[in-house]
Amino acid sequence: MKVAVIGAGTMGSGIAQAFAQCDAVETVYLCDIKQEFADGGKSKIEKNLGRLVKKEKMTQEAADAIVAKVKTGLNTIATDPDLVVEAALEVMDIKKACFKELQENIVKNPDCIYASNTSSLSITEIGAGLKTPIIGMHLFNPAPVMKLIEVISGANTPKETTEKVIEISKTLGKTPVQVNEAPGFVVNRILIPLINEGIFVYSEGISDIEGIDTAMKLGCNHPMGPLELGDYVGLDIVLAIMDVLYNETKDSKYRACGLLRKMVRAGHLGVKSGIGFYKYNEDRTKTPVDKL
Ligand code: 3HC
Repeated sequence: MKVAVIGAGTMGSGIAQAFAQCDAVETVYLCDIKQEFADGGKSKIEKNLGRLVKKEKMTQEAADAIVAKVKTGLNTIATDPDLVVEAALEVMDIKKACFKELQENIVKNPDCIYASNTSSLSITEIGAGLKTPIIGMHLFNPAPVMKLIEVISGANTPKETTEKVIEISKTLGKTPVQVNEAPGFVVNRILIPLINEGIFVYSEGISDIEGIDTAMKLGCNHPMGPLELGDYVGLDIVLAIMDVLYNETKDSKYRACGLLRKMVRAGHLGVKSGIGFYKYNEDRTKTPVDKL
């Protein structure tokens, strides 16, 4: 199977790694709007696999073979995939334009499946007007590790496409859960308001950053506390999903916390910008920062 991943950011490179690690996948096209962005995604994969080699969980030869499957470039290299997974920016017009370009000018395989890894946008709307309807294939960060794939049917997604994507997800070693289209689907509908609530708790001075994260880790057995997880997912992504939940429902329970919006405006996006609720140090340690 050949797979094209569109967008080489955190999710895109993680998804490309998850596919490249699968024996049934011979090639992964990792595409972005600039060659250097695509190459940057491939470097992240090499770094991740390098850690596994160092921990003796993988041989160097196996890591090299996985990396060799990943071909980087602009979208135009993706001429013959069996599956496209779009992980571009969470902007409706960008996603729509991306699929239109791929379907009309680039992909030659008439049986190609087109999937979006959108975290909350409407699959039906992304696919409107396209020759081939799309499906949601929502993986979670870190994509090579997390077991779940939400398989989201839009209003026009054919049943056979859903069945094929469920099969592909199992081949990847993941557990698919079928979901009907709705803002935030299942996980983000529940998880992102939880992170937002953690930010409210912090902004109201109920506890400090480490206190809130420790409370939720030890009190609920979550692997990460809400502020740490917000930083990990990206606070811009958390805000974008809160805004989608609010705009789609107009329910005030989905209003984004003011502090979240302020941090995003200030470029304090979490791990990817080096600072969010924590400052991320070179040696992979982190320290809480003062409130903006
Ligand atoms: N790529 C590949 N492998 C990775 C990785 C990465 N980016 N990060 C961690 N790993 C691997 C490690 O190599 C390690 O493998 P091993 O067990 O074989 O040695 C394993 O994952 C555990 O990693 P660590 O020992 O370094 O660290 P932890 O045990 O603390 O686990 C974690 C890290 C898996 C990230 C864990 O803290 C966790 O599960 N956190 C919650 C993640 C979460 O909730 N994700 C969902 C976010 S929401 C989302 O993605 C939706 C989107 O639409 C917003």
